[in-house]
Amino acid sequence: MSDITVNESTVVLAIETSCDETAAAVVMGGNDVLSSIVSSQIDIHARFGGVVPEVASRAHLEALVPVVNSAIEEAGILPSRIDVVAATAGPGLIGALLVGVSAAKSLSLVWDKPFVGVNHLEAHLYAGLLDDPTLQFPLVVLLVSGGHTMIIEMRGHGDYTVLGRTIDDAAGEAYDKVARFLNLGYPGGPVIDRIAADGNPHAVEFPRAMQHEGLDVSFSGLKTAVMNHVRRNPDVSNVDIAASFQAAVVDVLCIKTIRAAQQIGAKGIVLGGGVSANSSLRAEMTRRGNEAGFKVALPSRAMCTDNAAMIAAAAWHRLSSDGETSLACGAYPNLRLNAVPR
Ligand code: KG4
Ligand code: ZN
Repeated sequence: MSDITVNESTVVLAIETSCDETAAAVVMGGNDVLSSIVSSQIDIHARFGGVVPEVASRAHLEALVPVVNSAIEEAGILPSRIDVVAATAGPGLIGALLVGVSAAKSLSLVWDKPFVGVNHLEAHLYAGLLDDPTLQFPLVVLLVSGGHTMIIEMRGHGDYTVLGRTIDDAAGEAYDKVARFLNLGYPGGPVIDRIAADGNPHAVEFPRAMQHEGLDVSFSGLKTAVMNHVRRNPDVSNVDIAASFQAAVVDVLCIKTIRAAQQIGAKGIVLGGGVSANSSLRAEMTRRGNEAGFKVALPSRAMCTDNAAMIAAAAWHRLSSDGETSLACGAYPNLRLNAVPR
């Protein structure tokens, strides 16, 4: 495959299949989203109370071709206009990742276009930049999803240090586990977010673990505290529990993220990952971050949860800095933030 010049007119087709969304997007110049299609498997997994890996792989296989076709069609381009084919190479579920990586590598071979394997965590960082390309480095990015909770210093493209992380459950995992305990269904984040709006966030003062120390966070004790409280007070209202649980999560995430931004002299704070779709986290981080003198960038809700536009954006930047990825690239379920898929 020939060397490619990456510029404002470079068109990337990206595929995302790391978990339970089959997504494809066409993005030009790293931030002009021509189309972004997301087909969710939530309904398929809901009856199991969580994502079933084998079921996810099969559902990706079924959805992939129609989703890619829709992305190209909605972008209003011919396949020949696509310059690069990208896919999430990790982290994620191995079988699910393999579906997207194999499809992208096949299209790359057939069309004779470069392939780029993308780190899903890096892509979540790009979701905020997609919506606001004027953001200045260094940034503190709070990445909060179902699998990860990290406070990251982003000094430039591809230049990251993890300043803090969860020592046990991810924030989204805590939402999902508490929702399951309260019989609210799966995924828990959106439903807790919705019902918390009608509850009293001060009804129960749940613990804010490690509030005064460092930049790591912990949510396992909070989850246990919620369960113990409900078992002891079976008549307590779900909306008050949801609001009080959410207040504890949001409080800790805001305190730690703003502390990190102060420590590194950040020019801004960016949210990323599924939990950053949370209404209270968005409102509180904006209010408290601004009060502390930081610009706070919130990706649109569609860019917070898994999507392929962020994969295309990250691919565009990686192609500029590192060139294309070998077709020997596999799927890497435990890929770390600083690792570039090869
Ligand atoms: O980033 P994402 O789509 O997938 C992963 O890479 O994990 O994040 C999914 C997580 C789930 O745990 C879900 O409950 C949570 O994000 N989530 C939310 C909200 N929307 C999704 N959590 C809190 N409030 C929300 N509005
Ligand atoms: Zn994700």
